[in-house]
Amino acid sequence: MAMQDVESLRREALAAVAAAQDEAALEQARVEWLGRKGPIMEALRGIKDAAPDERRALGLRLNELRDALESALAERQAALRGDALAERLQAEALDVTLPGRPRERGGPHPLQLAQDALVDALHALGFRLAEGPEVESETLNFEALNIPADHPAREMHDTFFVAGHPGYVLRTHTSPVQIRAMRAHAPEPLRVITIGRVYRRDDDVTHSPVFHQMEGLAVGEGIGMHHLKGTLYEFCRAIFGEDVKIRLRPSYFPFTEPSAEVDIGCVFCGGSGCRICKGTGFIEILGSGMVHPHVLREGGYDPAVHTGFAFGAGVERIAMLRYGIDDVRLLFQNDLRLLRQF
Ligand code: DAH
Repeated sequence: MAMQDVESLRREALAAVAAAQDEAALEQARVEWLGRKGPIMEALRGIKDAAPDERRALGLRLNELRDALESALAERQAALRGDALAERLQAEALDVTLPGRPRERGGPHPLQLAQDALVDALHALGFRLAEGPEVESETLNFEALNIPADHPAREMHDTFFVAGHPGYVLRTHTSPVQIRAMRAHAPEPLRVITIGRVYRRDDDVTHSPVFHQMEGLAVGEGIGMHHLKGTLYEFCRAIFGEDVKIRLRPSYFPFTEPSAEVDIGCVFCGGSGCRICKGTGFIEILGSGMVHPHVLREGGYDPAVHTGFAFGAGVERIAMLRYGIDDVRLLFQNDLRLLRQF
């Protein structure tokens, strides 16, 4: 091979390297120009056929060309890799100035808020939380509360019985916690509140088979109806506002004697009479009374020494009145348009 041919080989090879646009094309150029079947190797093998006085110089030029081509390939490869990296960085760049994806925030449910308010109101009056199970014995749910098996009040409770466990029911009210709390404290004086789920087999527009009740109980020496009324008044003021009116009406519950139902002045019309209070200006919110001697005895207290008062209410109803919600179903639908208002 003549010297000029080596020169044109160099130009062509370097041009091919420069023209490679990605690493694959570059690899192809390497194989084509530096491979064993490529023109440079072929020329090196042909040195032995050259004129003896030219062999040395030709060998040097060809080796030099091979070295030059190798460095050109390495350089081009580094450049291509750099480009690829820059391109990737560009494509994957994050715009940290874009606004974030909004996250929906949860919040306490109005039922929970009402529950907290009830507990706080009674806590301030010295009542402490007590608890009982939702699967309750029939004895505590009924008998101990002076509701024997043949008592008509049983029918009003629409009880769920627990399959396979005779003698057990889903508690139909929170009142059995009265017995549990008394048995845990007798003969000490006692002020407790309990709150939780209760179950009844009615399910229609205004009744859910699961709902919530709260219950207060005070037992001690010398407790009278005036204490009940004072407690309920303070309690209602804490829940419905300073100016709330309350009214006690004689009533009947098997576990209290005497018994009273408690009304508050209608929070929707202010007492002038509306659809919700059915024109009476008052809304019933609580059942209450002096603890029946039978119940005190069941709790371990001597009715000759101790007396007590109790009261119970539906939490849904109190939540509706406190927050002006006029349909109980709204409390169970988890509609964000309602929940966001709290
Ligand atoms: N347990 C009653 C019910 O579910 C509510 C009740 C009434 C509770 C009077 C009481 C009470 O503690 O004194 O209907």
